[in-house]
Amino acid sequence: QGKGKIFAIDYSAPNLAKPFGIQHLRSTAIGNSIYRIHKFLGWNCVGINYYGDYGANFGQLLAAYSLWADPEKVKVAPVAELSDLYVRFNEEMKKNSELREESRDRLVRLSAGDQEMLSLWKYFVTEGRKEAERIYQILDVEFEDYLGESHFANQLDQTINFFGNHCLVEESDGALIIRIGEEMPPCMLRTSAGTSTYHSRDLAALRYRWKRYAFDKMVYVTDVRQQLHFRQLFASLQRAGVDWVNRCVHAPFGLLSFKGEAMGTRKGNVLLLEEVLDRAIELAKNIIQEKNPDLLDKESVARQVGIGAVIFADVNNRRTRDVSFSLEEVLNFDGETGPYLQYTHARFCSIIKKSRKPLDRIGNVSRLGEQAEMRVARQLAEFPYQVDLAAAENEPSYITTYLLDLATAANKMYNELQILVPDNLELAEARVHLVDCVRSVLQTGLELIGMKAPEEM
Ligand code: ARG
Repeated sequence: QGKGKIFAIDYSAPNLAKPFGIQHLRSTAIGNSIYRIHKFLGWNCVGINYYGDYGANFGQLLAAYSLWADPEKVKVAPVAELSDLYVRFNEEMKKNSELREESRDRLVRLSAGDQEMLSLWKYFVTEGRKEAERIYQILDVEFEDYLGESHFANQLDQTINFFGNHCLVEESDGALIIRIGEEMPPCMLRTSAGTSTYHSRDLAALRYRWKRYAFDKMVYVTDVRQQLHFRQLFASLQRAGVDWVNRCVHAPFGLLSFKGEAMGTRKGNVLLLEEVLDRAIELAKNIIQEKNPDLLDKESVARQVGIGAVIFADVNNRRTRDVSFSLEEVLNFDGETGPYLQYTHARFCSIIKKSRKPLDRIGNVSRLGEQAEMRVARQLAEFPYQVDLAAAENEPSYITTYLLDLATAANKMYNELQILVPDNLELAEARVHLVDCVRSVLQTGLELIGMKAPEEM
């Protein structure tokens, strides 16, 4: 369906002044899956990471740094120190309103091009990006376009002119706004202090992307709290008579929380994504050690299972729902989990290895007909529809639900029927062929979610 068409997707986009917390997981995992689904359907894909490298958070970090930082300590462990500073500043700001002033002041100096602020800001951004990119490597996520918010902060005048030419810009208490009807508050382009806003930067970025990519579809993946922001964004462009804005959609997701053991070791209740992943890998290692102590390469399988379990749990819910899960739950090999799918995939891989049948020879499928086999066959035939649906609605959970159903049907067949029937070669071949189709669809499906499919576990 995507042949010759361009798909752009804005996802992940962490705020670089903040620690890479567990809340960023959803945008990253869901966005990556939507990206992979479109790619699989033949679209030309552009993954955009609109890094949060500008705005109020940086004012806070700049202020915290000048008030409390020990530059030597920061040099040794920049990410840990800077995120502690950020968290501390936010805690203290609740009690002390002068700090708010302090951070605003730094931001104004930064926008005005103050050398000291600018070089600190560059340093923070560089460290934040390094950290984010390290996490993307762990999750196996890549982007084509890394232009963050700061890139569009100096395009304010063009944006104001564009809307001004359509007579849409009004002044209100010193700020510049666009009114977009009764149902929504106006969209603010410039604050009374003369700085750009989240709206104006996003408008500049979107117009740039249209010029650069001429996309057929453009998706934004953020949490539901930004719904109004995107409605305002699209509505302002509509008012300016822009027709391509119909190609843009916001795909919001609900909030994520953790049940069970508390893992946040830092102040301020920040749960670091990496801590969660490390813990999941550790738990996966214990389970593998117990189930399959002779497995070669346990280390790398445990990584694939642990990380996959967290990704799956995140994606396996209707996007807009809030999710809450515990690591014990998501690592249960018999539950509706990622490891259950990976385990089923590995089981079917091992049947095929045992069969030693040349796989290029398609068995005589007319030999199939048992109820358990037909259930699997019907389930296989359903795959393309579910992928189309997932793309149309930007909803990866269609694929996870589908894979769980397929795995259940296939495991039922495995329990009811002997696959490698000893005295009926033709039937054995037909069944191995069916098993190979299951293996292949499970593998493809897991990849579409952003998971790995180990052959043994
Ligand atoms: N940095 C923002 C945040 O973490 C998300 C940005 C989403 N993309 C966008 N074009 N506004 O909340």
